[in-house]
Amino acid sequence: MSVNWSLPFDERVRTVSRSTTMTPREYEAMHERSLENWPEFWEGVASELPWHRRWDKVLDDSAPPFYRWFVGGELNACSICVDRHAAGHRASKPAIIWEGEAVADRGPTVRTMTYADVHREVNRAAWVLKHRYGVAKGDTVGFYMPMVPEFPIFMLAAVRLGAKFTVVFSGFSSDSLSERLNDAGAKVLVTADGGRRRDSVVRLKDIVDGALQASSSVKSVLVLKNVGNSVNMETGRDEYIHDALARAPADATVEPVSVRSDDPLFILHTSGTTGRPKGQVHDVGGYLVLLHATMRWVFDLNDDDVYWCTADIGWVTGHSYIVFGPLMEGATVLMYEGALDHPSPDRWASILERHKVSVLYTSPTAIRSFMKNGDAWAKAHDTSSVRVMHSVGEPINPEAFRWMRRNVGEGQVPFGSTWWMTETGGIMISVLPGLGLVPIKPGTNGFPIPGVEAAVVDEQGLPQKPFTRGLLVLKRPWPGMPLTIHNDPSRYKEVYWSRFPGSFFAGDYAVRDGEGYFWILGRADEVIKVSGHRLGTYELESALVQHPSVAEAAVVGVPDEVKGEAPVGFVILRVGANADAGLASELKALVREKVGPIATPREVFFVGKLPKTRSAKIMRRVIRAVAVGQSVGDVSTLEEEASVDEIRRAYADFRGEVSGAQDVAGRKRTDGRPL
Ligand code: WTA
Repeated sequence: MSVNWSLPFDERVRTVSRSTTMTPREYEAMHERSLENWPEFWEGVASELPWHRRWDKVLDDSAPPFYRWFVGGELNACSICVDRHAAGHRASKPAIIWEGEAVADRGPTVRTMTYADVHREVNRAAWVLKHRYGVAKGDTVGFYMPMVPEFPIFMLAAVRLGAKFTVVFSGFSSDSLSERLNDAGAKVLVTADGGRRRDSVVRLKDIVDGALQASSSVKSVLVLKNVGNSVNMETGRDEYIHDALARAPADATVEPVSVRSDDPLFILHTSGTTGRPKGQVHDVGGYLVLLHATMRWVFDLNDDDVYWCTADIGWVTGHSYIVFGPLMEGATVLMYEGALDHPSPDRWASILERHKVSVLYTSPTAIRSFMKNGDAWAKAHDTSSVRVMHSVGEPINPEAFRWMRRNVGEGQVPFGSTWWMTETGGIMISVLPGLGLVPIKPGTNGFPIPGVEAAVVDEQGLPQKPFTRGLLVLKRPWPGMPLTIHNDPSRYKEVYWSRFPGSFFAGDYAVRDGEGYFWILGRADEVIKVSGHRLGTYELESALVQHPSVAEAAVVGVPDEVKGEAPVGFVILRVGANADAGLASELKALVREKVGPIATPREVFFVGKLPKTRSAKIMRRVIRAVAVGQSVGDVSTLEEEASVDEIRRAYADFRGEVSGAQDVAGRKRTDGRPL
């Protein structure tokens, strides 16, 4: 079978004609060929991008695991995403179609910006950043923004100047914001007075004020008047964006600054097992090459598509697949600010219908919330424009997969579950409607994309048998990989590259089936996924122990019908503290305040002991098993078995059960007392 690898960057034909269906064997043979002449394979993809200077070396692997891609190459991400389209046949093509949540009599507010509009606005924004704030190469611009077009416009403006950016999701608290901004060393912060969600205003600027109270790297704050709520504006530090823009010439132009392929494009913090959030540093060249490839292979993107990714730009999915991926391909990107089920449960389907969305990227948690409201809401709209769908963020349960497939695009649409993570920069494992589509099984992730080698290994790093759970690794470097962890290269090496030397350790459990399909099962560490948002239980625990009544805390994720997982806290109180409902609510509020609303625990339980190993490490695995009602498995390393009963009792009391049924060893109690 001959496959056309080439994806000319400016191709305008409908690439669906290129889409072939293949058997898993045929795909694997094709995939193997991509690895044979690797990294030349990636060089071929990179050649399709407009570089200012071509690279001297495709991959510098002289100092593993600090790999460098397209070394010597120079480019500018803003000019690739904006200038080249604005200067060509796409100038009058809509680049961003924005829809706000509020629905007036005449319908929702919609703003459409063409590539020429985006070009003009990005230049004006860059003028402001450069001439009023002195932003230049080497600087970091921070973002704490609602989902409005000014968000990507200012990101692109920063990048135009050769600066890097760091985005903090607007659901994070002051503390989380300030920690991330300081770690990244952001000098200017772009924010808004507020954002809209379910008809209420999220007062973003107040949170920023809180974050900047302590000493901060941020010296200047640009504030978008988005909602119009009154905010505190600190003289000498804060300026409204419209005031700043008013000083820019209407036709302001700022030349894009060429940067090196391996210069940093952004820092994005993500949660891991322990410790502070890790600032993943992504490069420019490798990142864009991976996005170019995946936009085509995974999304089969064409010039006449309307592409909608329902994520928030605050997370990596939004960075890669709302901003850089689709814009570099000259796509029309739909951007929505608000809740997908507001003001009525069919909001998302009405957006698909009204904007004739053809390519949809969403999440299992969104789909489960649609499902909960029933089929009628989806069926009320004509969604036949949709021709490709994918989900991301967590494993998709087969019911949600089938529901979506049945209700959108009349069962005809290829629908995949793309596996990747903040660290990988872009999609790594997926079915590929734009290249060669293998039969899709509900819930599977498919195969690694060409040029990426993934494997499921056992504890020793040896290939795991089919249908047996193992750990997911990536066996060679890939374009889009992190340069390092900001300010902590040794941690980068240790967390990802030390467990299985030579391979990147993803931290996920996975299995392969008899045909070689990958099924990613979820995190093997203390990371939880709440509505697809990645949270480290450690961050929540750190918030809990800040309360004067709390001596110790453990947080685990328990299954939640819509969110996938919900955080639940187990807390040991200090002597004299009162374990009552009031304190539990206080503790939930504390996590909300310290980490952010997305992290609010569903419940907080009071216990006398926590299950620990003899070396005093909390065994969250055991706590979770009890909370989920599973067998606690091997507890030979447990220091005190009674602690498990404590957890079980707390949980059973909560659920109104008389007792848990079994003790640690799985024996029934016979004395009738609760466990
Ligand atoms: C999980 C999000 C199963 C996984 C892009 C990974 C998935 C973590 C999938 C990264 C999927 C993401 N199927 N699990 N399709 N996509 N994950 O950094 O556990 O927010 O390690 O990146 O999400 O989360 P992150």
